[in-house]
Amino acid sequence: MAVERTLSIIKPDATRRNLTGKINAIFEENGLRIVAQKRIWMSRAHAKEFYKVHAERPFYASLVDFMCSGPVVVQVLEGENAVAKNRELMGATDPAKAAPGTIRALFAESIEANSVHGSDSAENAAREIAFFFAQTEIVG
Ligand code: CMP
Repeated sequence: MAVERTLSIIKPDATRRNLTGKINAIFEENGLRIVAQKRIWMSRAHAKEFYKVHAERPFYASLVDFMCSGPVVVQVLEGENAVAKNRELMGATDPAKAAPGTIRALFAESIEANSVHGSDSAENAAREIAFFFAQTEIVG
């Protein structure tokens, strides 16, 4: 297994409830290193661009509103098989379907306010990391 990087976002529902530390502890206890991290408030343009692959989906407008409704923490996680590992730790998109003990099962409020985002492939991880971070902001 190769050391990989993936893009994670701790979403507004989680920052509002002060869950950043608890979520980061899950990453760190499971072998993912936080090699870059910043708390930002996404603009509508930023959120629309980031989620443009979902532009035709019925939940797109609401998702964009939600992602701009408060601060988010964007981060680069590094570790063995980091893309798949992070998806395993997050659990299913819908918290009702997420395995017990996963971040979404523990913390998500709904399928939309589901506490975290994680890249779904190595290709998308590279694209999503470049969307938020300059190479010089990632210290490894
Ligand atoms: P994320 O992994 O960030 O990718 C797209 C996001 O859209 C997803 O998490 C949810 O926040 C949201 N989403 C996905 N499916 C639905 C849905 N059926 N209804 C509302 N929001 C959704």
